[in-house]
Amino acid sequence: MILVTGATGAVGREVAGLLAGTGPVRILARRPERVAVRGPEVDVVAGEYGDRDSLDRALRGVDAVFLVTNSPTEPDDERVATASAAAGVRRLVKLSMMAVEEPDADDFITRLQRGNEQAVRDSGVPWTFVRPRTFMSNTLSWAPGIRSEGVVRALYGTSPVACVDPRDVAAVAVAALTGTGHEGRTYAVSGPEAITAREQTEQLAEALGRPLRFEELTPDRAREALLAKYPRPVAEAFLESAERQRAGAKAAVVPTVEKLTGRPARTFRTWAADHAGAFAGT
Ligand SMILES: NC(=O)c1ccc[n+]([C@@H]2O[C@H](COP(=O)([O-])OP(=O)(O)OC[C@H]3O[C@@H](n4cnc5c(N)ncnc54)[C@H](OP(=O)(O)O)[C@@H]3O)[C@@H](O)[C@H]2O)c1
Repeated sequence: MILVTGATGAVGREVAGLLAGTGPVRILARRPERVAVRGPEVDVVAGEYGDRDSLDRALRGVDAVFLVTNSPTEPDDERVATASAAAGVRRLVKLSMMAVEEPDADDFITRLQRGNEQAVRDSGVPWTFVRPRTFMSNTLSWAPGIRSEGVVRALYGTSPVACVDPRDVAAVAVAALTGTGHEGRTYAVSGPEAITAREQTEQLAEALGRPLRFEELTPDRAREALLAKYPRPVAEAFLESAERQRAGAKAAVVPTVEKLTGRPARTFRTWAADHAGAFAGT
């Protein structure tokens, strides 16, 4: 039995979708009604990381766990890893991030993820860390501006990032959950090419069949917009991360998707074509 967490999120839903139909899968969700993946061997249980009883129930009979966390304040990795150790879990695949292995990255979120990885190591459960670059799906935050004005507003429009399709991140995670030889391994995961926000805007315009305009935000305007959505340390971490991207730190392409799944990583053009509906309409 494999336990999938984060199944209402970008990567976890794809992991659950890939595993459903291949064997018994349990999904832990705070709001089970929001889990789209269903099937005869899919068991959705209500629970959350801060509720140890619900964790223990979800972990009963589980061999492997796919772990997604996103709280800037809660020790969720430690909670799940500790409960997994107590339940006799033999494999924990954690969704982390590529910046943890880059010495010049020292923002709040990267430091948090380094600590989260350490908590998993300390639990004693055999682990694998999947460390993706920026998700292509982050561009979904552009959808309201595209729909209402045909405009994309973002920082640093000409700085490249080897962004990755969450479906490919999920495929790497599933390989680690179901294959052999992944214990104690870390997998950096990127897309097939580095692409700028201006180029992403052009490719979304092609997918939508209508022109889009790119407007570069100043750092001050970006800070204002981020502070309206996130607590200050998180907003500042995003800005520091964008600054690293501007300096070229996120352009490297790694061959992990092809190595672990046997097929090339999807391009942003493919992602855009497959998700055009999310940007369409007015
Ligand atoms: N976005 C990027 O570009 C990027 C790049 C590299 C790495 N990452 C890493 O990816 C991770 C986020 O992955 P994602 O984008 O796939 O997820 P996401 O869309 O942010 O969703 C988070 C998932 O975790 C669940 N969750 C959060 N707290 C929970 C709790 N206390 N109990 C139970 N479930 C909980 C959420 O459930 P609810 O639906 O109930 O909220 C949701 O399913 C983060 O660790 C981030 O650092 C992101």
